Amino acid sequence: MYANIILHSFLIFILILNISLTLHLHLSLVKINFMVDVILGLQWGDEGKGKIVDYFAPNYDIVARFQGGPNAGHTLYVGDKKVVLHQIPSGIFHQNTVNIIGGGVVLDPITLKRECDTVASFGIDVKKNLFISQRTNIIIPTHRALDKASEMQKGDSKIGSTLKGIGPAYMDKTGRNAIRVGDILDKSFTSQYIKLRLKHQKLLDNFHFIEDISSWEDEFFEALEFLRTLNVVNSEYFINDQITAGKKVLAEGAQGSMLDIDFGTFPFVTSSNTISAGVCTGLGVSPKLINDVLGVTKAYCTRVGSGPFPTELEDATGEELRKLGSEFGATTGRPRRCGWIDLVALKYTCMINGVTKTIMTKADVLDSFKELNVCTAYNINGEDTEQVPFQISKVKITPVLKSYEGWNSDTTQIKDAAALPEAMSTYINFINGYVGSPVKYVSNGPGRDQLIKL
Ligand code: GDP
Ligand code: IMO
Ligand code: MG
Repeated sequence: MYANIILHSFLIFILILNISLTLHLHLSLVKINFMVDVILGLQWGDEGKGKIVDYFAPNYDIVARFQGGPNAGHTLYVGDKKVVLHQIPSGIFHQNTVNIIGGGVVLDPITLKRECDTVASFGIDVKKNLFISQRTNIIIPTHRALDKASEMQKGDSKIGSTLKGIGPAYMDKTGRNAIRVGDILDKSFTSQYIKLRLKHQKLLDNFHFIEDISSWEDEFFEALEFLRTLNVVNSEYFINDQITAGKKVLAEGAQGSMLDIDFGTFPFVTSSNTISAGVCTGLGVSPKLINDVLGVTKAYCTRVGSGPFPTELEDATGEELRKLGSEFGATTGRPRRCGWIDLVALKYTCMINGVTKTIMTKADVLDSFKELNVCTAYNINGEDTEQVPFQISKVKITPVLKSYEGWNSDTTQIKDAAALPEAMSTYINFINGYVGSPVKYVSNGPGRDQLIKL
């Protein structure tokens, strides 16, 4: 009898031990897994990623840029001071956040030095908070010259590049000629540089490019000296070690998904993978670690540079959007092309990225519009389609528009979702239904405090 009770108690004890061990193992797996969230653009860039990353950065230990270079211009406000970051991640203004420039980035040391000076003027110690991957490819002055020469040769069919040397730098990466940040600490650096410089000179001669770039080179070598004083790390080990230690990473995208080299409006795209897949190759993290993908879209649409833009408004309404949204490039100052929100493209980019949450920025720019439109299909040769066509850069697309009543009221001071106008909720609900990945935040101004959780 007693033996039976003891046996039963023992079995129950073993069972409880088993359950708690399994639970513990499961929880610790959950803890190790899903440590990387991503913020990226869902349109043609300039969606407001900088502001959003800056807003969420305090929730993370690390903010890391995974691709792009000084073609990016990410605007954020520190107090009432506007700052535009090009290569430094947008978490830099938070003292406890580590910022990493990942291996998927192409880095211009000249721009980096200037940015570091700006950031330092806010009392931020980049030597403490900024880390650069050894694998990051370097943009050298002849890359910029080649970018310019290539665009000049293209004439009317030019990409509208920012001319920061992005395309040629990524070409040297895939062509296996590039110089990487880790190389500048190596004795062979000068000979590597001269070899690449000569190769570029031959190409520039073919383009009949005769601009003198010696002053760019002087600045470049000065900036390299500065770069040598920064934290250059083996970032894939650095990040993965931190993740194993339970730290949280926010990956910051540049450009937008419609500018992705593979899935964008080719050839009018940039030269990197701007989509969530780029996080793995750009930072050296496993796809299994990625949790939330926060996609940023404007409440309307803009594009800077050449290429297809089905909902573009080349009229007074487009001009009004440009004026009210201050739509001028943060990097080049060029006027941005403006149009209605394109749900065909948005649904496509949410699909490619696996977006889990959408953030809608610049909703306040639509405050004074009596009528709004959303594009629900592309009409091509008389047929409607809800898919982004492979030939988007070649076919004529007429957008099929659905009209909405505007809210016609000032929303910039609203802090609470319940106070948002009904017409805005109707507009957002339609977008949610069409795209299938819900808008969870609405940004109603450029300020840090102008973000409403829905
Ligand atoms: P990014 O490249 O995606 O970081 O975006 P940019 O910085 O190039 O462009 C976004 C612009 O819109 C910047 O000038 C921001 O200050 C501004 N901005 C961001 N969010 C909002 C918003 O909700 N409302 C308004 N009016 N401006 C915004
Ligand atoms: P952020 O990160 C908007 C565009 C250029 C051009 C094309 C190729 O601020 O959103 P490139 O210089 O890469 O050779 O240019 O891509 N482009 C951007 N447009 N925002 C950006 O970055 C962009 N970066 C590049 O205008 O059409
Ligand atoms: Mg920008």
